[in-house]
Amino acid sequence: MPDKRLTIWRGDITRLSVDAIVNAANRTLLGGGGVDGAIHRAAGPELLAACRALNGCATGEAKITAGYRLPARWVIHTVGPIWRGGGQDEDQDLAACYRDSLRLAQTHGVRSIAFPSISTGAYGFPIERAAPIAVTEISRFLASYPAMEKVILVCFNEVVFHHYRQLLE
Ligand code: APR
Repeated sequence: MPDKRLTIWRGDITRLSVDAIVNAANRTLLGGGGVDGAIHRAAGPELLAACRALNGCATGEAKITAGYRLPARWVIHTVGPIWRGGGQDEDQDLAACYRDSLRLAQTHGVRSIAFPSISTGAYGFPIERAAPIAVTEISRFLASYPAMEKVILVCFNEVVFHHYRQLLE
């Protein structure tokens, strides 16, 4: 039975007034398209300046900045794996993105966090394979962290929404 604190929401992650939103970034952390572009546009130029000081981020890892003009207090930037067919530890790297983002959230006292569907856009990770990884890692974290109150899986399109809804209902 999935944890009641884990919910799905259809929309734009930059609109959410949660403690932290997670960005599906690239290893430079210097912005891009997709959700990365949307978050930088909404947060304003200070976000890029803060990211420059982070000196990039490895795949499967996460780094945190303030949210600046976003309603969210923090942005946790994580770098998902580029899909290369599934034989190069993509599953493990994707799981690590969720784990490391949640660990970072916990150390910053985050009580509500929203994730996009990491790696399932430009990085080509199949959603039917990514969704169970996300739900498993988040559920595992929630089981050991009662202080976390809400985790929202944000779906920007119908296909992603459908896959998460099937898993959680
Ligand atoms: N809110 C929530 N989700 C969004 C938004 C948004 N505003 N915009 C896009 N998404 C969704 C996409 O529909 C997809 O399901 O985020 C998911 C991840 O897609 P991408 O943003 O393309 O991220 P990813 O597949 O991890 O590729 C990362 O793309 O933008 C560049 O700099 C980024 O190089 C990096 C690569």
